[in-house]
Amino acid sequence: MKEIKAGLLGFGTIGKGVVRVFQNNAELLEKRLGARLTLARIADLDITTDRGISVAPAILTTSAEQVLTDPSIDIVIELIGGYEPARSFVLKAIENGKHVVTANKALLALHGEEIFSAAEKKGVQVMFEAAVGGGIPIISAIKENLCANNFRSIFGILNGTCNYILTRMTNEGAEFASVLKDAQAKGYAEADPTFDIEGVDAAHKLAILTALCFGTRVRFEDIYTEGVSQISALDIQFARQFGYKIKLLAIGKKDNGEIEARVQPTMIPLNYPLADVDGVFNAVRLVGDFVGPVMLYGHGAGMDATASAVMGDVMAIVRNLDAGGAGRTPAMGYQRQNIAAYPVKAMA
Ligand code: HSE
Repeated sequence: MKEIKAGLLGFGTIGKGVVRVFQNNAELLEKRLGARLTLARIADLDITTDRGISVAPAILTTSAEQVLTDPSIDIVIELIGGYEPARSFVLKAIENGKHVVTANKALLALHGEEIFSAAEKKGVQVMFEAAVGGGIPIISAIKENLCANNFRSIFGILNGTCNYILTRMTNEGAEFASVLKDAQAKGYAEADPTFDIEGVDAAHKLAILTALCFGTRVRFEDIYTEGVSQISALDIQFARQFGYKIKLLAIGKKDNGEIEARVQPTMIPLNYPLADVDGVFNAVRLVGDFVGPVMLYGHGAGMDATASAVMGDVMAIVRNLDAGGAGRTPAMGYQRQNIAAYPVKAMA
């Protein structure tokens, strides 16, 4: 039986989830792929902390190089997060002919073009389902299932930490700071939680979604971004009295040849489906010219749901390889001739 080997960079919360899928569902993966998929190496600066999961010490290393240069590794899973050294590692993996799976929205929002063009030149695949919406299959929905549509708009609750905070403030009158701590303890928040609460993480995700939906690069700096740190319990109470919930919404629209892209706290009528998306759940509502409205909903953060998305990508790469090589699905999914064709509307 054919064997495909993966190497993991980053043994944090999501990394542990990925290891759990490899361990718990090994037989299922093998049956579904008709190939043996193994995790050959795990690199992290900290390989001594007990993560409550048993891993053969021989596969642990503190050196990313050992993953990036190991000729037996076909797929590199990047779960380090942040811009550097993740960017250099991903580029090195590509240069060495390895396929890449990443959950790193910050990296793709800012350096996506560089990474996807390097991948295209090298003929390797870069997959990133886990970068947006945790376990929700929004990237493959846009790139594949719905790709015959012109997209009109995309609205999303894309940050689980903010949604968790706002939900608990709404339902329990909880204090912002204590709920944030809880979200961090549960592994939802970014290493730098200001990325969550100031809307930056949602804006990273929106940059990826708008690029995919509208076939154009949306510069991250052009996205109007406002977070939830200024929302008080009183705002939430008033909104409620008027029949609204406050959610941090990411909004992308294409209208009259212009793209509108913004992240901001938004009053949502209680009878609107997005108002029912509570806790760590995320949801994305998009409208295509043929399919009409579609809404996807699921766990937007957390170890298991995000690991599910990562492993779906790893398996998709194995299947694509099986079907005759890389690049069946264009890396970023946008029309190549049309990049940067639309101006981004200036936001107040
Ligand atoms: N910090 C992110 C969130 C993790 O809270 O949604 C998932 O991208």
